[in-house]
Amino acid sequence: MKYFLDTADIEAIKKAASTGVLDGITTNPSLIVKSGRKFEDVIREIAGIVDGPISAEVTALDTAGMLEQSRPLIAIHPNIVIKVPMTEAGIAACAALSKQHVRVNVTLIFDVNQAMLAAHAGATFASPFCGRLDDIGQDGVKLVEEIVKAFRNYKVSTQVLAASIRSADHVRRCALAGADVVTVPPQVFHELFSHPLTDAGIEKFLNDWKSAVK
Ligand code: G3P
Repeated sequence: MKYFLDTADIEAIKKAASTGVLDGITTNPSLIVKSGRKFEDVIREIAGIVDGPISAEVTALDTAGMLEQSRPLIAIHPNIVIKVPMTEAGIAACAALSKQHVRVNVTLIFDVNQAMLAAHAGATFASPFCGRLDDIGQDGVKLVEEIVKAFRNYKVSTQVLAASIRSADHVRRCALAGADVVTVPPQVFHELFSHPLTDAGIEKFLNDWKSAVK
């Protein structure tokens, strides 16, 4: 499973990249607005830090507009992945971009049918939103599990990118479900490294060591 960070916060990206296990970045319009900076500038700076797929989302609602917005983004760096919404226009844009060998992440997926269509349109990543399904009383990770199963049925090469991840437990369940990628907020990313018994174990080893070498 690959680990992406779901943020446009440069300091958070540098910190996560320093662990050596960060594989890519996803951003969305809400995250870019939060950064308070120009879209292209943020994406360019991220591309200089992380050597992996960087999803940059278009905001047009029609296919032609999506394709037009994607052009300057693709020119920024070969690692840029165009993120389109799961709509008929988004799927048409995905099909057109895929034919041009541009990688696409189809986002806002809430159903197996949507994921299958994204795969059919040649998407590199299909992004089911776990947390937002949980928010309406459904089991978001269950959808990840179902998409993984459907993709295996047809030997689909599109990667299942579990998004809208809210907790370390989501990540654990996505790993068990067979997600290819999880994209996580910075706080959740760092939580994945720790366990109280690891901390307690280190403390005991160090105390024993110190008492022996007195
Ligand atoms: O990757 C999608 C993500 O940014 C949405 O997360 O927590 O706003 O549902 P959330």
